[in-house]
Amino acid sequence: MSTTQRAAAVIPAKPKRTLENRINELAWKDWLLFQKSFFSITDDQSLYGDLIRFFTKRYDSENRLTRILVITGSDTPSSIAAHGRQLFRETVSPIDIGPWHESQPEIAPFDFIIVDWRDRGAAWAEQASEHSANIHQFFAQCRAMLKEGGFCALLSQEVTTAAGRYPLPWVLSSLARHSFRLRDERIGLPDSDSAAPTYVNVLQAINEIGPVHAELPTLHLSTPAARAQWVKPKPKPRSKKEILHPAKFPEELVQIFVSELTLPDTVVFDPMGGTSSTAMAALNAGRKAVLIELSGTWVDIARSRVTHAGHTVSERWKVLQGDAREIAALIPIEFLPIAYTVTSPPYWRILHNPGMHVLDEGQKARQAKGLRTTYSENKADLGNVTDYRQFIDELTRIYDHCADVMEPGRVLTIVTKNVKFERAQYPIAWDLVFALCGDNGRFEYAGTTFWCQDDVGLKPFGMGCDWISNILHNYCIHLRVR
Ligand SMILES: C[S@@+](CC[C@H](N)C(=O)[O-])C[C@H]1O[C@@H](n2cnc3c(N)ncnc32)[C@H](O)[C@@H]1O
Repeated sequence: MSTTQRAAAVIPAKPKRTLENRINELAWKDWLLFQKSFFSITDDQSLYGDLIRFFTKRYDSENRLTRILVITGSDTPSSIAAHGRQLFRETVSPIDIGPWHESQPEIAPFDFIIVDWRDRGAAWAEQASEHSANIHQFFAQCRAMLKEGGFCALLSQEVTTAAGRYPLPWVLSSLARHSFRLRDERIGLPDSDSAAPTYVNVLQAINEIGPVHAELPTLHLSTPAARAQWVKPKPKPRSKKEILHPAKFPEELVQIFVSELTLPDTVVFDPMGGTSSTAMAALNAGRKAVLIELSGTWVDIARSRVTHAGHTVSERWKVLQGDAREIAALIPIEFLPIAYTVTSPPYWRILHNPGMHVLDEGQKARQAKGLRTTYSENKADLGNVTDYRQFIDELTRIYDHCADVMEPGRVLTIVTKNVKFERAQYPIAWDLVFALCGDNGRFEYAGTTFWCQDDVGLKPFGMGCDWISNILHNYCIHLRVR
């Protein structure tokens, strides 16, 4: 017996563990690519093909050919490849979906539904409340036609109306939540950064657990504040001091907005200043800056970063330690009025989540390096509010106070994410706009610029078992003071 044979006899070969893929037939590398929450739109065939191949297998658990229903508002796209599944396609309006289903009950249940309402235009925006009952009913019907636990992908776009851009995808998805659980979203980026991105909102035929709006407000709209609808800035690597903070935005991002929305020597404000990215971007562009930040740790880092960057004239900037709930009392009079506010709140309690969603912020790696994974233990810290509704209400009050120190027509940009918790999506961005720009709101919605992070590695969440994306797009919501 040779030495190798003897060794083989002593140490039996480890049985190979193969992970069963319960969702689709994709190779793991294709699965991983689909998990990136933004992608380039090339053509309709690949948009549809990627969805069909991710959310279905060719045969279901009973070995029947998988059934897919595609509902479009018009005849585009002209043909859709079935990828070996059984594909039904209907061009049907929300009001007609019930009679259509009743006329051919034998074809349901479906394994997957795609609703393509990218061509729904200004008419829907202007009469959203009129349509809301029909849309409710439409999604209830879709749920009835889908297998329990099946997915529905809703494709839609913001529409341009005479008053401004109307966030139709948020309205449709919020209405759909009465019948489905909102699971996630992917953002399809067109060639040009000034064209409207396509939202792919992923709904699942299980009950919603997040708070649902009984009724949506009528939104106040304004002309778009920023030109770009999506940006992919290339941030410099973070310094040792910056890396101590669990979630900062890049100066390169803020600089885009500061140059577009303010004039030299005017004041830029951030009520939750963190490590001073806003101040650095404003000062580098020849503006003044005033920041409020709750935690003394970040205040010290912020002041030292600004000073080390050579900004030594104290009349041009201030970093104040305090609670953003007291904006008016904190800002020195010589920094008023504010010309532009740009800020990023804690993304609710996401930094406290010990589960997989936290991985998406790279928090495990931070833990391993002994870095902070939350902002502070302070009760006043918005990142420590556990109730979602309370979190949105408190933020709304803080942004309303921002309007007190700004002149009408000035812009507030909020950088945030829609987050996931326990397999449900909490649309922070949309809920803030509904609260701030609704019937009694102090702001008008002036469009969104997506900040897409191309410099973050992908992680294989839920691989083979469930759909969980890597959220790598942030909303920069622009609001104009009324
Ligand atoms: C997402 S971080 C902002 C990061 C910042 N934009 C940067 O680039 O460094 C949110 C910040 O809000 C602060 N914060 C939380 N609650 C606050 C409050 N009530 N008042 C002021 N700041 C608060 C946190 O300490 C944290 O630094």
